[in-house]
Amino acid sequence: MKGIILAGGKGTRLYPNTIAVSKQLLPIYDKPLIYYPLSVLLLANISDILIISTPQDIDNYKKLLGDGSRIGVKFTYAVQDKPRGLADAFILGAGFIGNDSVCLVLGDNVFYGQYFSSVLEKAKAQAEKFGAAIFGYPVKNPKEFGVVEFDENNRVISIEEKPEEPKSNYAVPGLYFYDNEVVEIAKNVKPSARGEIEITSINNYYLEKGKLQVTLMGRGMAWLDTGSPKGMHKAGGFVKTVQEMQGFYISCIEEIAWRRGFITTQQLKALGEELKMTDYGKYILSLAEEEV
Ligand code: G1P
Repeated sequence: MKGIILAGGKGTRLYPNTIAVSKQLLPIYDKPLIYYPLSVLLLANISDILIISTPQDIDNYKKLLGDGSRIGVKFTYAVQDKPRGLADAFILGAGFIGNDSVCLVLGDNVFYGQYFSSVLEKAKAQAEKFGAAIFGYPVKNPKEFGVVEFDENNRVISIEEKPEEPKSNYAVPGLYFYDNEVVEIAKNVKPSARGEIEITSINNYYLEKGKLQVTLMGRGMAWLDTGSPKGMHKAGGFVKTVQEMQGFYISCIEEIAWRRGFITTQQLKALGEELKMTDYGKYILSLAEEEV
């Protein structure tokens, strides 16, 4: 399975923070926002990853992440000249996806929770077997998201994009697993009222064909909002608190790459050395030293 991170957009809700810097490069406490969704792909054991951003921002992503060889993975880059909607990721990414299945994660979505790796493995398998796997997450403000509607037997009947009157409080987070058909489906999506080709249209297509699996995430799972300065601040506070309490870092891409076997302990140590002036680097070094 291939992975795509969509890190486009203007980030206007975070202005002036994002006038000169792409939103997904801003820090959530001690690391850039994009490290969090990138970690999700690494946890899902996906190592062939396309990063999509705007013409003005793409070079900064290349500077931050390079070709991926440092952490034993492969990064490819693509430019989205206009924000045409999330479904555009599969059109821009068609050549990259080839005949493979694909996981899309939005560059500003932060997830954290126990057993998340097995949740991801399951979604991957479901998409490859049935067609598509997405999630539902309870929120207080469903109007701002794609919303899942259930019947009395808890079967999904529809997904609505930013409904005026949400039919449940389950939002669809920005993490989607699809089989290869998604490329053709995306090409046929008609723009919505807001002029975007919506991921929700893709999900409804799979739903109508009986090929969509929706897994509900429970209260033990954190899906953090980064859509406003307050949201970003709270997410940063969450990361800081958990890291300080447990001593384990959230979304340390070097650690995950090492635990997944993408790099050796020697390579991990070298990465830690480069960053040893920070607590982040010291953490990486401490992992490498434990093992030697
Ligand atoms: C997008 C999707 C929406 C989803 C949300 C998750 O919204 O369209 O269905 O719930 O991401 O972050 P947008 O960020 O484009 O407003």
